[in-house]
Amino acid sequence: MDTDIQSELDKIKSEALAALAKPETKPEEFEHRYLGRKGLLRDLTQKVGALPTEKRGEAGRLINELKNTLTQALADQKSKLGATAQPAAKSTIDLTLPGDRKHIGHLHPVYQTMYDISDVFIRMGFDVVYGPEIETPYHNFDALNIPSDHPSRDNFDTFYLADTNYKYLLRSHTSPVQIRAMKERKPPLSLITVGKVFRPDTPAPSRYPMFHQMECLMVDTDISFAHLKGVLDIFCKEFFGPDTKTRFRPSFFPFTEPSAEVDISCVICGGAGGSCGLCRGEGWLEILGAGMVHPKVFEAVGYDPEEYTGFAFGMGIERAALLKYGINDIRLFTENHLRFLNQF
Ligand code: PHE
Repeated sequence: MDTDIQSELDKIKSEALAALAKPETKPEEFEHRYLGRKGLLRDLTQKVGALPTEKRGEAGRLINELKNTLTQALADQKSKLGATAQPAAKSTIDLTLPGDRKHIGHLHPVYQTMYDISDVFIRMGFDVVYGPEIETPYHNFDALNIPSDHPSRDNFDTFYLADTNYKYLLRSHTSPVQIRAMKERKPPLSLITVGKVFRPDTPAPSRYPMFHQMECLMVDTDISFAHLKGVLDIFCKEFFGPDTKTRFRPSFFPFTEPSAEVDISCVICGGAGGSCGLCRGEGWLEILGAGMVHPKVFEAVGYDPEEYTGFAFGMGIERAALLKYGINDIRLFTENHLRFLNQF
């Protein structure tokens, strides 16, 4: 056998089979290149004529053998492709039908707001701490300088737990977490706390017996009212928008002295007032209570009031969300209608 033809046959065979194994090789192109009228095997057949007569038969037989091998391999490959394509064609799945959309949930708007608020303070270096929702009257009232004859200790103003013999209550604000945190840590400290609070209010557009508060506390040897104003100003600008202005009005809380009620410029009219429905023409919206930590509170947690000063403020999270998103009824947060919740 002519070694030239033999080696060419070997080369063609291995090249052809490798090509066939590749998914990008199209059957028509394969046929054209190897088996067709102008294909490689046909070229070889023409060379056979130039061989000595006694070698022609053997060469022809080998070429034919390869031709059969490649034809069979091509047929096998075609039926393999056909076999995988077929079930899709026969399938009962109608690919033209619209998809079955999965509804992935998201955070409740109150929690979104809670985390947005926390983020602002975390960026300023505050810790986030949590406390229990079931509290002792001591943490909720006494340690916060709210004496036992204070009106907010009235049974009707707070949920006491009868089966604990009225020893525990549902906290009415997040301020008891200040007490717990100060007892656990030593100044300097800067922290916020967020969570649920409870008050026996009849549900109304601006009231609900359960809501969420955030509270901020900063204590060190030289904390002044200026720090309170600075932190609040940054917070309000970050949370309500860069043009937000703050206003402090004198107020009273048993656990702060002096105390203030803080307003922000109206998120709708920007403080212009006039016929604005949200601020009722005032230009301002009441947003939170604040003040300098009362010396009696420091005494209750074992801090020397001569050495330390601090500020605290507390805010309703639902109220912040109502104002930020222009929602007019706090009850929407707990009714859980998807038409409401999906807007966030
Ligand atoms: N605890 C007060 C409330 O629930 C808010 C507050 C917190 C006021 C801290 C001043 C300082 O109304």
